[in-house]
Amino acid sequence: MADPTTPAVLIDLDVVRRNIRRFQDYADAHGLRVRPHIKTHKLPAIARMQLAAGAIGVTCQKVSEAEAMIEGSPDIRDVLITYNIIGAEKLAHLVGLARRVALSVVADSETVVEGLSGAFAGEPAPLRVLVECNTGADRCGVATPEAAAVLARQIAAAPGLAFGGLMTYPPAGGVEKVQEFMARAKALIEEAGVPVPVVSSGGTPSMTSAARAPVTTEYRPGTYVYNDRSLVARGVCGWEDCALTVLATVVSVPAANRAIIDAGSKALTSDLLGLTGYGHVLGRPDIAIDQLSEEHGRLVSERPIGLTVGETVRVVPNHACVVTNMVDEVHVVEGGEVAGTWRVAARGCIT
Ligand SMILES: Cc1ncc(COP(=O)(O)O)c(C=O)c1O
Repeated sequence: MADPTTPAVLIDLDVVRRNIRRFQDYADAHGLRVRPHIKTHKLPAIARMQLAAGAIGVTCQKVSEAEAMIEGSPDIRDVLITYNIIGAEKLAHLVGLARRVALSVVADSETVVEGLSGAFAGEPAPLRVLVECNTGADRCGVATPEAAAVLARQIAAAPGLAFGGLMTYPPAGGVEKVQEFMARAKALIEEAGVPVPVVSSGGTPSMTSAARAPVTTEYRPGTYVYNDRSLVARGVCGWEDCALTVLATVVSVPAANRAIIDAGSKALTSDLLGLTGYGHVLGRPDIAIDQLSEEHGRLVSERPIGLTVGETVRVVPNHACVVTNMVDEVHVVEGGEVAGTWRVAARGCIT
């Protein structure tokens, strides 16, 4: 198959398979269930690979994302949406989803619980709702185990709902806090006579420490499937573990130590994730991508850059998940050859 027109997102399926297997083996060895977050790939075919390897279901962030994934694969039968769902239209879609798959969602306030209960009160089966807990990331989530217990009791008593357990998205290195917060919340809820069937945690940077919080029953890694420059910088993986790269063409070499590629912020995104520069040119650690405009990426080196107009380079982006959201299709590579193109089914699904 001919090389794709650039800029193009390449996904090395051999690396994907290895990344999936590696974490599934860790989880199996530690009695953890795996529920990968599909935000990284947004591809039903990769979700299918994760399920075939042993995942119990998937995680989605948004209702429309879950709809696109289910549409794309009949294998996806168990979905957790890790987001507060608010508003009549989204709730109506949620009811539709719950009629098709085993569905659970999260909530961190009484207002969200009331909305969910209003939508599901007349449904034949209750919606499972987990309480989202803030274990240090300071995004969503109830602030204390005591507040988690109060909300859990409200969910358990709400028409149309069933209490599904506890969920958190901790910051990197936050495993001790996860254990402390979730174990305390679980104990308080069980003291009130309510079982806690699931304790769900996630995040690639700390995934191989997940078992150090034994209260955790399931884990939601997302970026692990592709990896990216931010994870190499944290020492989580090496360049050889990065399955997603952006293939770009050198369109100009205007100075001895500078070249311009056709991948700018529309392909690589401006996400820095705390890093300097916008990506890593494979095989060229001397090069920095120090500046982007929408369609231009500037490569600089302290040495002669040694690139010629028309040649291609492969760039590992800072953050893989946002890059897949930029393209309608990705090009899959197997055995070093481009083997086909896959439509990014859940791209742009932000509602
Ligand atoms: C709620 C939730 N769970 C899991 C993940 C997966 O995290 P990572 O991509 O670090 O594996 C994310 C990522 O944003 C998330 O928001």
